[in-house]
Amino acid sequence: MPLVKWKNHNTEDVEVGLMLNALKERYGYDFRGYARASLKRRLLELTRYFEVAHLSELIPAMLYDEAVAQTVINSISVPTSEFFRDALVWKMIRQQVLPQLNTFPWINIWQIGCGRGEETYTLAILLHEAGLLKKARIFTSDINPAFLEEARAGCWSRRRLEGWREGYLQAGGAGDFDSYFEDRGEEVAIRPELKHSIEFVQHNLVEDEVFKEVQFVVCRNVLIYFADELQERVLHLCTRSMERGGYLLLGRSERIMDFDEKYPELEVLDSDFQLYRKVVGGERHV
Ligand SMILES: C[S@@+](CC[C@H](N)C(=O)[O-])C[C@H]1O[C@@H](n2cnc3c(N)ncnc32)[C@H](O)[C@@H]1O
Repeated sequence: MPLVKWKNHNTEDVEVGLMLNALKERYGYDFRGYARASLKRRLLELTRYFEVAHLSELIPAMLYDEAVAQTVINSISVPTSEFFRDALVWKMIRQQVLPQLNTFPWINIWQIGCGRGEETYTLAILLHEAGLLKKARIFTSDINPAFLEEARAGCWSRRRLEGWREGYLQAGGAGDFDSYFEDRGEEVAIRPELKHSIEFVQHNLVEDEVFKEVQFVVCRNVLIYFADELQERVLHLCTRSMERGGYLLLGRSERIMDFDEKYPELEVLDSDFQLYRKVVGGERHV
């Protein structure tokens, strides 16, 4: 006779579920709507980092030790980024979107999932070079307060500049990329002038609402971590926050499911670069 009728034969899946419930109950972060396969992989990597045999052994440590919880939350929220990541996307933004944004009396941008700030300052550099930074406000948000703090500080290892310089040039940069940073020995820090138009906001896409009407939403490489239902919530949040005629940029590998039925207010401007616009009069004609 079996001990019980097991509903779930995969013990690791049970452990992942318990861990997510514990995070939600104890710290209020709800990651249950994230794409499970990649989330499970990242959580299982933590067993090697903490040198435990099973994920569930981390649950008590996480409940009683905020530093352990922060490590777990960091590993789920993945801040990987670069300046001018997917450089050709930024070239297109420079050439096609910024001149259009300039037709608005002011420019509010919501940049979602800022990680450590690389993408935020990429935007600031582009706006500065187009002469639009003073007219613009970038609201940059992330779920993770530790990343927001690092983004606000804007310091990176000097070694990373080389690859980023390449991206800047590919994105049509004609200035001196290094001049946007101050020398701090082994590190470089973004120049304070580039920070003046930026507001760093803690915002959780799982449960928070729209906080601003904007002309441009940049939400790149965030949806890939979410399961379908959460992706849909976020896309509606993005659409609701956009002024009519405003733009939405997603990550290059991010595709919108059921686009025609679910997002009649959006039209595709460039499917390769994943650029959308909120239609001006009501709904798009399909
Ligand atoms: C891979 S980074 C993307 C960085 C940048 N957008 C880029 O494309 O280079 C994903 C970011 O999304 C943030 N994130 C994950 N879940 C989130 C949520 N529920 N609400 C807001 N931000 C979230 C993470 O903390 C992380 O900084």
